[in-house]
Amino acid sequence: MLACMPDYEHVLSTSDGPVGIVTLNRPRQLNALAGPLLREMVAALEAHDADPGLRAIVLTGGPSVFAAGADIKEMAEATPVDMLVRDTIGMWDRVKKIGKPLIAAVAGYALGGGCELAMLCDIVVAAENARFGQPEINIGLIPGAGGTQRLTRTLGKALAMDLVLTGRMLGAEEALQRGLVARVVATELIVDEAVRLGKELAKRPPISVRMAKESITRAFEGRVDDGIDLERKAFYLLFATRDAHEGMHAFIDKRQPSYEGR
Ligand code: HXC
Repeated sequence: MLACMPDYEHVLSTSDGPVGIVTLNRPRQLNALAGPLLREMVAALEAHDADPGLRAIVLTGGPSVFAAGADIKEMAEATPVDMLVRDTIGMWDRVKKIGKPLIAAVAGYALGGGCELAMLCDIVVAAENARFGQPEINIGLIPGAGGTQRLTRTLGKALAMDLVLTGRMLGAEEALQRGLVARVVATELIVDEAVRLGKELAKRPPISVRMAKESITRAFEGRVDDGIDLERKAFYLLFATRDAHEGMHAFIDKRQPSYEGR
């Protein structure tokens, strides 16, 4: 049984028994992670985290698309200072602080900041149509919300370099083989299967679940924070280059970019 929660404009917040569900809901822009959407997403996740009736949370975009990355239209004119002051990336940090087990139910594209969002979740369930990637290189940027660190830890250096330097995408099966996702399910069942997994976790002792989550996260994240700091400064710095603005404008104008190394 689904219960509806407070009104948001860009996300749907519901629950099914002990499982909170947050659905990104900007499908025409492929759930591009604009500031207002991110703020609502984090508010909805934090509300579920604080709700004593819930034991697990599913984050999804439904069966078509998870998220095609940060909103390029929002960033196209930005300077490094704009990016630093906006601190949109701080939203990813808040997702990391969610205490309950967070399951990403990923269908379709999980690109750039979308892939980085999935990697912040504790368990990623992928639909057969899921495609993961960090294509920021194509628009004159690099991953900015942890991708260079978490993708490398998860996939190893060779494949992470391949994906980040070429921008190519991984399908669900390769993502499963390489440990980026825990399970692959039929596309039309993506949310049902993630909620079913959430209900399984809800039967486990909550404090043990919390401690296990924290411990595994610590094993995975130790010293990643140093790398994240470096990555974030490099990401902001790229907004000082003409190539980044050319890349983003070329995307918006639907043309090929012309890079000059400046
Ligand atoms: C803004 C986006 C978007 C994005 C898609 N759209 N991705 N808008 N930001 N990241 C919009 C398109 O402009 C278009 O709007 C509509 O969504 C449908 O997209 P199409 O490109 O027409 O769809 P398709 O041809 O199917 O191609 C799908 C796609 C492509 C391969 C996913 O959209 C794409 O390459 N998107 C950008 C992916 C990307 O570079 N992500 C990384 C962003 S940087 P209109 O209005 O034209 O119909 C990033 C950094 C994170 O994530 C760091 C933290 C801040």
